[in-house]
Amino acid sequence: MTENNNKTVLVTGATSGIGYELAKLFAENGYNIVHVARNGEKMKEIGDDLIMAHNIKVTNIVKDLAEPNAAKEVYEEVRSKGIVVDILVNNVGAGVFGKFSDTDLDEELGTIRLNIDTLVIFTKLFLKDMIARNEGKILQLASMVSKAPTPMQAVYAGTKAFIYIFSQSIINELKGTNVTVTLLRPGATDTDFFREAGAEDIKIHQPDQLADPAKVAKDGFEALMRGDTTVVSGIKNNIQDKLSNLLPDEVIASQMAKMNERVEK
Ligand SMILES: NC(=O)c1ccc[n+]([C@@H]2O[C@H](COP(=O)([O-])OP(=O)(O)OC[C@H]3O[C@@H](n4cnc5c(N)ncnc54)[C@H](OP(=O)(O)O)[C@@H]3O)[C@@H](O)[C@H]2O)c1
Repeated sequence: MTENNNKTVLVTGATSGIGYELAKLFAENGYNIVHVARNGEKMKEIGDDLIMAHNIKVTNIVKDLAEPNAAKEVYEEVRSKGIVVDILVNNVGAGVFGKFSDTDLDEELGTIRLNIDTLVIFTKLFLKDMIARNEGKILQLASMVSKAPTPMQAVYAGTKAFIYIFSQSIINELKGTNVTVTLLRPGATDTDFFREAGAEDIKIHQPDQLADPAKVAKDGFEALMRGDTTVVSGIKNNIQDKLSNLLPDEVIASQMAKMNERVEK
């Protein structure tokens, strides 16, 4: 049986994909979990399994984090329950696929609220508490596209670029404290993400191109525990990242446009 370490991680969006794999890793390592997502039934199922398998507590908070006041409400609920969040994992994220001139504005504003507003609010509120205790860790789900202009995913890539610059700025401000922020940058990963974005049939979303979410989560978990500032998951992505630093943005945008083409059936 896992030994409970009496520390708590708050993970957003752990009902599937990378967040689910991260929640499992935290549970295996004895962390209590506060889980925030929309699907309460699935959260209960996952939480019950983790409680059975490991000696931990799980608190489920059902919330649509694309709603304007959701993140503040979650913070208040966590505080009112007397829970101290030692680690914050800003995992939740979604995208809209298509040419920007054609995509739905309201959907994209929802993406911005989910990927940016919620992340900024959680980071602000929990970081203040961590600084007051001089202890804490935050994992931010960025992406390979954080540094790559990405046609057909302009708003999504923009949100991930925001997360990268925002977090790197805070990382510098935190020097000399015991609070760390780690950026996890996965490439295309085998999760529900592309299906949710309506982009299952694009070139980059082919079985041989996709990373295993368990491997991505492990890379992020280990980097977070070491207090690394940033981790690119996967050897191929690391090489691509280094090469991208040498290329003009226009060239990267053309390469990304090709990878985001729909595969003809
Ligand atoms: N997959 C990739 O290729 C890839 C690559 C780079 C970066 N990332 C990033 O990794 C993170 C996780 O992505 P993933 O691929 O694991 O996605 P996923 O499988 O689609 O999982 C998304 C999670 O977020 C929750 N969620 C979605 N919208 C929500 C909302 N409005 N309110 C509350 N919870 C919500 C979902 O649960 P409910 O449906 O229960 O709410 C689910 O648990 C995201 O930030 C994504 O941008 C993914």
